[in-house]
Amino acid sequence: MCGIVGYLGPSNPVPLIIESLRCLEYRGYDSAGIALLDDAQQLHVVKSAGKLQNLVDRLAAEGNVAPRGDGSNAVTTLFSAPNTQAASTTNGHTHLGMGHIRWATHGAANDVNAHPHMGTERQIAVVHNGIIENYYTLRQQLQAEGRTPVSETDTECIVQLLESNWAAKGRLETGSLEAFRKTVIETLGQLQGAFALVIMHRQFPETLWVVRRQAPLVIGIKDITNHASNKPAFGGEFVVASDTVAVIPHTNRIVFLKDDEVAELSTAGLRLMTQDGTVITPVIETVDASPLQIDKKGFRHFMLKEIHEQPDVIRQSLSGRLQHPEDPIQLFGASVDITALKAVDRLVVIGCGTSLNAGLVGKYAIEDLVGIPVSVESAGEYRYRRPIITPNTLVVAISQSGETADTLEAVRQTAKLGAKVLTITNREDSSLARESDYVLPVRAGIEVSVCATKSFTAQVVVLTLLAIQLAEMHESTPTACLQALKTELVRLPALLDSYLASDALGKIQEVAKTFSGFPNMLFIARGMNYPVALEGALKLKEISYIHAEGYSGSELKHGPIAMLDNTMPVMSILTPGTVFDKMVSNCQEAAARDARMIAVSSVEPLAENVASLFEAIIPLPACDEVLSPMLTSVPLQLFAYYIAEHLGKDVDQPRNLAKSVTVE
Ligand code: AGP
Repeated sequence: MCGIVGYLGPSNPVPLIIESLRCLEYRGYDSAGIALLDDAQQLHVVKSAGKLQNLVDRLAAEGNVAPRGDGSNAVTTLFSAPNTQAASTTNGHTHLGMGHIRWATHGAANDVNAHPHMGTERQIAVVHNGIIENYYTLRQQLQAEGRTPVSETDTECIVQLLESNWAAKGRLETGSLEAFRKTVIETLGQLQGAFALVIMHRQFPETLWVVRRQAPLVIGIKDITNHASNKPAFGGEFVVASDTVAVIPHTNRIVFLKDDEVAELSTAGLRLMTQDGTVITPVIETVDASPLQIDKKGFRHFMLKEIHEQPDVIRQSLSGRLQHPEDPIQLFGASVDITALKAVDRLVVIGCGTSLNAGLVGKYAIEDLVGIPVSVESAGEYRYRRPIITPNTLVVAISQSGETADTLEAVRQTAKLGAKVLTITNREDSSLARESDYVLPVRAGIEVSVCATKSFTAQVVVLTLLAIQLAEMHESTPTACLQALKTELVRLPALLDSYLASDALGKIQEVAKTFSGFPNMLFIARGMNYPVALEGALKLKEISYIHAEGYSGSELKHGPIAMLDNTMPVMSILTPGTVFDKMVSNCQEAAARDARMIAVSSVEPLAENVASLFEAIIPLPACDEVLSPMLTSVPLQLFAYYIAEHLGKDVDQPRNLAKSVTVE
């Protein structure tokens, strides 16, 4: 959901900003842009619709951004060797710049709407992640003043407002740095909505301002001259970004901005303020992370690579938590006080998209093993309802990124009511993790493809472990049953390894090709696998743009069955267990309407009368019903992948989507 970068320091900012934006490409790819100050203190903005590469090509072709102190050298020269140039200082000058990649909210994905934006007087430049809710009113006020917006964006209001406030008061008050600081703070008070901003003013070539309200922003501090973390100010070189992954290649010393904090970065140091201008002490954390390895490892797409990583991801998720089937599960470190978990009598699980589907799988497992009620809530809806939090309710937030705006806000509301919050995430450094009482990392490793695959499986593993640990604490399921489950869980990675190396993949590819021409598809399942049907349909829609819906097999006859005829493929998940016969009946009902039936089945062999219902059957190894979603989801991921690949879609960066949804 837009990625922003800011830089202040002695290095050539162009390659550094581009490389940082590359780490943030998962956040959006509608357009990209960069702003710098030249020797004459003129702001230069270069931007381009489409992916970051378009900006890179434009910079290389036009070479029209020369960072300060670089004399006549064009950016083409500076940009040509990013790895060496990024590390080198240029000529003792302080450079500053900002970059942006966009996920469009207001206005089409074109060059004009791309960030950075400048005011009419071209004095100030801004990059923004978030949404300004009162932008329309502000726009009208600014137009009445004679400021003509050139873009359709909400962001342009911010920069026009800054210039307007500066013209009205700041410049008159001697035009000092302090006056602009006041202007920034005054302007923030006029904005409603969510925003992370980087601001630069051509009159202050050695200062950047960064702001956060309900959108992520971190400040990386390089070459600190004063290492004491409890001092309010210190000099240095700064890399600002929407995510630590873009900062880690440069420094692991990070200030995580909190909501409504403003930071002024300059060669004189970092001045951290609350939104009323009160100076506060920054807390510098040392983050233990290695630079992002963005590598397809020989696979055609990241999605395919990530699907194949799932056996190892399950191993990682289990590691140290499930030692031996006879031992109790240990999800939490020894230092974590889990007494409150013993008393938990109700769970509210909150998430969006794939994480919501994983939460639904968790509901089935927890209700089955622990016998306590679990409600699974779509965060965007839940945050506007009246949350019902009883004294022993545990709120479980699920989010791959840990930055999803709706999930974060829904959780904040439950926390205000006194709920304990447990976050299950792939990002321990995320806002959600930092605001929770308990954090369970899913350990899926960085997931590059926008379409979530391995993170879903890892979330389901952690939820299953949570179900078993709660069942052990509550003594709600016989020990022998739990031990049998744990034994099977340990076997799962090897089972999946051999599946991914088997000729089942060829079969999935063949079936995918056969069904890739249908414009609609239904996915049905029951019990534990009903959420997998939802997830299978989501995968297909997301990357192939084929309309797909998931239903419980039992729901078919309450409406969707009306759509069935020989133009509608129905993908059915058939696994042994409590609902197998019911599911077979639902498949019979669909087949009787001439639907084009496909099955993913771990029943071997299927009885002749059942097998004959299907045009194609994708095989799958069998496992305990409670664990089956970790297996059944894999052929559905591959099915979606092969269809999208066959149709020539942009698998890893599907249209209109972003990996981290930091706006409502
Ligand atoms: C999954 O393929 C999607 N890209 C999307 O539904 C995603 O799961 C959702 O936006 C939630 O993201 P989160 O897990 O980072 O909170």
